[in-house]
Formats: sequence, C-alpha cells, structure tokens
Amino acid sequence: MIQLIRGFKDILPGEVELWQYIEKTVRSLFEDFGFKEIRLPILERTELFARSIGEDTDIVEKEMYTFPDRNGDLITLRPEATASVVRSYIQHKMYAKDPVQKFYSIGPMFRRERPQKGRYRQFYQINAEVFGIDSPFIDAQLIFLAMKLFSMLEVTDAKPHINSLGCPKCRLNFKESLSAFLSSVTEKICQDCLRRSKKNPLRALDCKNSSCREAMVDAPAITDYLCSECSQHFETVKHVLEKFKIPFVIDKHLVRGLDYYTRTTFEIQTGSLGAQNAVAGGGRYDGLVKALGGPDQPAIGFAIGLDRLAEITGIRNKDLLQKPDIYIAALGEKSMPLAFEWSCNFGLEGIRSEMDLSNKSLKSQMKRADRLKASYVLIAGDNELEEGSVVLRNMTTKKQIPIPIESLVEKVKAEIKL
Ligand code: HAM
Repeated sequence: MIQLIRGFKDILPGEVELWQYIEKTVRSLFEDFGFKEIRLPILERTELFARSIGEDTDIVEKEMYTFPDRNGDLITLRPEATASVVRSYIQHKMYAKDPVQKFYSIGPMFRRERPQKGRYRQFYQINAEVFGIDSPFIDAQLIFLAMKLFSMLEVTDAKPHINSLGCPKCRLNFKESLSAFLSSVTEKICQDCLRRSKKNPLRALDCKNSSCREAMVDAPAITDYLCSECSQHFETVKHVLEKFKIPFVIDKHLVRGLDYYTRTTFEIQTGSLGAQNAVAGGGRYDGLVKALGGPDQPAIGFAIGLDRLAEITGIRNKDLLQKPDIYIAALGEKSMPLAFEWSCNFGLEGIRSEMDLSNKSLKSQMKRADRLKASYVLIAGDNELEEGSVVLRNMTTKKQIPIPIESLVEKVKAEIKL
C-alpha cells in the first residue's frame, strides 16, 4: 500500500471541522480589523525566498523543497508566506493606489524539518501582513489581534515574547560585539554557528542546538545597542501592550529564524505544545519591500501555525461534527426512488439527509441512523406509501408522527424547525 510522505498528514473529516471553525473565526476577526484576503501561489522562484529569508538561514540552507522546473528554472515550494506577499505588493504596484495595505491568508507551507509532534513538513499558517505603516501602534495592534484570536479559540496559556532587532544602523555595532562574543566561545558552538559567526552572527542566537543555547546565555543583547528612534519605538510598543492589558515577556535573545526582521519581533509561546512551543511568530520587516525592488515602505506581520493552534484550542471537535438532520429509511422497491427524490430536495432546502440505497432491513438502517447520530428518521415502507403517509421519528424523544407524502419536504421542514 502506498503511504503518505513522512512529515505530511491528511486532515480527515472529524478533525477538519475544527480547522474550518478556526478558519471561519480568523476570517471574521481579521476582516473586522480591515484585513483583506490574499491568495498566492504555492510555488515561487527560489531566488525570492533566498533573498528575503536569507541565504544563511536554516530554512534556505537546509529546509526548502527546491527543484528545477522542466525548463531548468529553480523553483521552491513556499516555506513561508511573507516573501510572496511582498512580491505581490510590488508586482501589482499596490502601493501606488494606497501604500497602506492589510492582508491575511491561510494556506500550506513546506519545510523539510525533522518531523516530530507539532512539527510537520507540510504545515499550515494563518498570515497577517500590514504595509505602509511605521507607527509602533500597529505593532501592538497585531499582537493584540493574535491574542484576541487565541482567546476566541479558548487558548488559555499563550504569551507574547517580544524583542527589538533595531534598524541596520543599530545592528552594525551589535553584530560586531556579537561576533567578538562568538569568537570567545568557539569550542562550545556548532559548525553552523561558527561558519555564520562573521557574516551573520545573529543566526547563532536562534540556533536550536542545546550547547549553542547554553553558550549564548551570556551573549550581548541587541536592546543595549538600539538607536534612540528604535528604542523609542520599542518603548511605545510595550506601553500600548500594557495599556491593552496584554502581559508579555521581553526576550532579549529573540531574533527569529528569518533574516528580514527589523525593530519589533515577537513569538507567541505556549506551555501546552512541548518542544515546539511557538504557536505564532512575526515582526517588522521595514527593509524588505525596498530590498526586493519596491518602494521604501515599512511592513510588519505575523504567522500563526494552524496545526499547532488546532492542537491547543479549547474548542472541542466533537461539538462541531456534522450530523444528518434526517435519515431516510426507505424499505421496498416503490419507496426507494421516492425517498431518493426527497433526499435531493432536502439537500436543496438546507436539510442534511442521509439514506441507504441498497434496500437493507429496517433494523440495520435504524442502526446506521443511530451511528450517524441523525436527529430524525423518516421511515418509508411500501405499505406506508400505499396509505399516503410515512413515519417521522424524533430520535431524541422517540416520538413518532405520520407525515403525508404530498409536499413531504415542506412538511418535514416545518416539523423539524430548521
Ligand atoms: P515562523 O516563525 O517561521 O515565521 O513560522 C510561524 C509559525 O508557523 C510558527 O510559530 C509555528 O507555529 C508555525 N510553524 C513553523 N514551522 C512549522 C512546522 N514545521 N510545523 C508546524 N508548524 C510550523 C514565519 O514563517 C514568518 N513568515 C512570520 C511572519 C509573517 N513574519 C512577518 N510576517
């Protein structure tokens, strides 16, 4: 038997209802805050990700699904959505109409990481991206929005961890001092960190290796190197979060795994996910639009891991399962075609129906109706048909009433009061 690929998964009925519920909540909340949906391709040119996420990152170096197209062009299954949203903002000159644009999107991403609980090779993200606003108020509003979504979805222990990565100006001095620090701990850090320590020392702060983590405990903090504008920006973000009564943790070593970040960066962490404790991550990327050939427009966004969110929400899947409103138990040659017609008409009237087309016994059909948790059963045998009415059974109260077969669909609809 052919099995699915490691790190990939099927989302089956029974689980998918929860995903639909989350998606519906996201759409309604984000649209209330002025975000518009954007749907972008899953395949993009490799160069787009290499240039935006950064050549020295784990994602680009080790995790992308990259292959030559039939004409030789290198293409990649998107490992994240931000680069594509920026490409689209530039390509369609959306800034010309209004530099301020707010997008959200929901869809699959692909990273060839080592699969484990909460970490998949195809996973899903809910993305929110805002262009054209440099005010720190929007930084705080995005964190507020993510936290609001978590509370609507009954996630109880999510907490934002925040940091500021400054601008390229503050970064210059910080990089130098971090490089110097790394050369003092060369025996303790991994080969990747050693290799990246001159060109991109920030990556060492994000290394997953436990000995590197230990070595980095005493590393310098970027917040000590912020210029006055970046420092003021960060202060305002914290102030607004406090005003909104959102508790947060300042994590001076939070740099995130992607190179494009500037100023505010954040991760929303939870204790209920084990090792994969980040349910969302994001931050500013003020230089990326320009770096990819667009105008000098600031931007900020975040992505929530939908797979992880589905694992920690307090909403219970069993409360969302679809059940038939009515099960039609057709018994006999004459009743079958009539029941089939009713079942199609029930569907058109928004009444969910289920029936058996293979003429099984009443007992076995009642068993199936029970198993499917149908609210009502319509019992239509040839004998009943001859008398001009069938029986409607309420499966909760067990009460049975006759329903005339003329205009049956309307009569049932009135009876079951949908
Ligand atoms: P990221 O931190 O790489 O950021 O991913 C965001 C979230 O996606 C993570 O916090 C996690 O919940 C989920 N995630 C990531 N990798 C996996 C995986 N292998 N399996 C399951 N879930 C995963 C970004 O992707 C940025 N583009 C976020 C952003 C948007 N920054 C600005 N705008």
